Amino acid sequence: MIYLFGAAAPPVLQLPDVVRSAQGRGWDVAVGLTPTAYEWLEERVPELEELTGYPVKSAYRRPGQPDVLPPADAVLFAPATFNSVNSMAIGITTSWVVGFTAEAPGKGIPVVVMPCANSALAAHPQFDRSVAVLREARMQVLYGESGFEPNTPGVRPPYPWAAALDAVGQALL
Ligand SMILES: Cc1cc2nc3c(=O)[nH]c(=O)nc-3n(C[C@H](O)[C@H](O)[C@H](O)COP(=O)(O)O)c2cc1C
Repeated sequence: MIYLFGAAAPPVLQLPDVVRSAQGRGWDVAVGLTPTAYEWLEERVPELEELTGYPVKSAYRRPGQPDVLPPADAVLFAPATFNSVNSMAIGITTSWVVGFTAEAPGKGIPVVVMPCANSALAAHPQFDRSVAVLREARMQVLYGESGFEPNTPGVRPPYPWAAALDAVGQALL
């Protein structure tokens, strides 16, 4: 079971196709979204739920409520915004996908994170620090030559989804 998590950056709108690609690799997939990403994709949530067979999760369950998803074998968090990368690094876990991902390495669940932030946001000194902290936390961060390279503001090259799915495939070996 792969948890495919997305935050509110434009590549998240491609998640239905990414789910199909992941399923094409033989994986069972469930989708989780930050609250803002959920708003962006709200009209396509029924399609995502139909495709995956699982509810799209964006909030923590209540105490005593059972989890709606089977346990994860790996997490792919892509696209991960400036906000979500920094939140995971400094431990602000109000969003379920951020909290789950922050906790996953400690539970032995492999995590792949691929950021999506333009070069202006990536120039903020916290961003490199956060990427370093996530790597220190044993997450694989596809940033730089190995994955996403910050784009010029307003210019959106294709998001390297294939690299992200390949990294998950490696993590599952
Ligand atoms: C059209 C649009 C595009 C955006 N693109 C990005 C982006 O590529 N990277 C990013 O970090 N934030 C981007 N943002 C800002 C995030 O959506 C915003 O910071 C949001 O609070 C992130 O919340 P989340 O990390 O909980 O999803 C964009 C916002 C809009 C309206």
